[in-house]
Amino acid sequence: MSAGKKRDQIRSASVAEIDLSALSHNLRQVRKRIGRREILAVIKANAYGHGAVPIAKFLAGKKRAPGVSLLGVAYLEEAIQLREAGITDPILLMTGCPIEQIPEIVRYQLTPLLFDSESLIALSRYAVRRGKRVKVHIKLDTGMGRLGLPVSEALPFIQTATAQKGIQVEGILTHFAEADLKDLSFARKQLEALKQIWTALQKAKIKIPYCHLANSAAIMHFGSAHFNLVRPGLMLYGYSPLEEESKIDLRPILQLRARVIALKKVPAGTSISYGRTFLTRRESLIATVAIGYADGYPRLLSNRGVMIVRGQRVPVVGRVCMDMTMLDVTDVPSLEVGDWVTVIGEEEGQAVWADELARLAETIPYEILCGIGERVTRIYKTREA
Ligand SMILES: Cc1ncc(COP(=O)(O)O)c(C=O)c1O
Repeated sequence: MSAGKKRDQIRSASVAEIDLSALSHNLRQVRKRIGRREILAVIKANAYGHGAVPIAKFLAGKKRAPGVSLLGVAYLEEAIQLREAGITDPILLMTGCPIEQIPEIVRYQLTPLLFDSESLIALSRYAVRRGKRVKVHIKLDTGMGRLGLPVSEALPFIQTATAQKGIQVEGILTHFAEADLKDLSFARKQLEALKQIWTALQKAKIKIPYCHLANSAAIMHFGSAHFNLVRPGLMLYGYSPLEEESKIDLRPILQLRARVIALKKVPAGTSISYGRTFLTRRESLIATVAIGYADGYPRLLSNRGVMIVRGQRVPVVGRVCMDMTMLDVTDVPSLEVGDWVTVIGEEEGQAVWADELARLAETIPYEILCGIGERVTRIYKTREA
């Protein structure tokens, strides 16, 4: 069934159509750049708004998406959601190992990040009591200032961890602060810091399978940072994080549509929405569309946003409300209540993608995608390209 037909059968007011063949395409773009290195697919934050369980199921199906070795989420709840949906692939918990969560981390066979001795000792003791060996990745802070051990403490910590019963150190990692910039000088310093530790470990004959730091930006334009595992997020969903224009063929995998729920002809001088920030200059046809900031359409797009209606780009007028947004559709012929408009996506040769909305809303495509709300029904097109 076509996405359009599927959408028409849905009662909800807004629908995100997710094209899994585009996800495969983007994954192939990652593969092209990394050769035989392995992939940790970052699917935290509900797979950047795309729906973590269906995306994980698709990526985890080895036949469809060969080469994804691990999945990455931020928090325990996200990992449990995946396990309860039947996903058995390795899952990296990318924010740490809170001591109170250790029983569930072990029960659900998750791989936490470690960067403090208290968690290391508590995890080791718990694992030993249960007769388990828990895989962990050790995080170093090489310049992000967020999570991780200072580089000066890394070696002794890793040595202690590798000797600890019940623990298997499967990886070491760090995270770039600005690999998206053209100027990679700070990123190079971070890379050097990780390399030094990795080399020292090899000299000390401490064998750890993975060393990783490459996010989408580094995968795309910083080949020397690929090590043996990369962690793409945004590029899987079809967008480039790079400051400069990217030459990589990425395909946005999500299109977002919402229904027109009211249409009204109003005279010149009519005010639209809260605060009366827009006044019609002519007799106008105003469409009220069923999407608002509660669905992730940013309020900063008030009087700035653009949607596509019957193949025409039309402006958002007045303030974006919680559940609705108004458009000036005076020049759009034969629009009816119940019709769909394109909020993110393409229609009849016109397009509005999340990176354009991000620019208009003074943010980044990550925030636009992650913000897509729970009320939006997600449907998945599974046909391979
Ligand atoms: C630790 C870590 N690795 C990888 C990623 C993926 O980054 P990107 O979406 O830019 O590829 C993120 C995302 O924020 C992250 O926090």
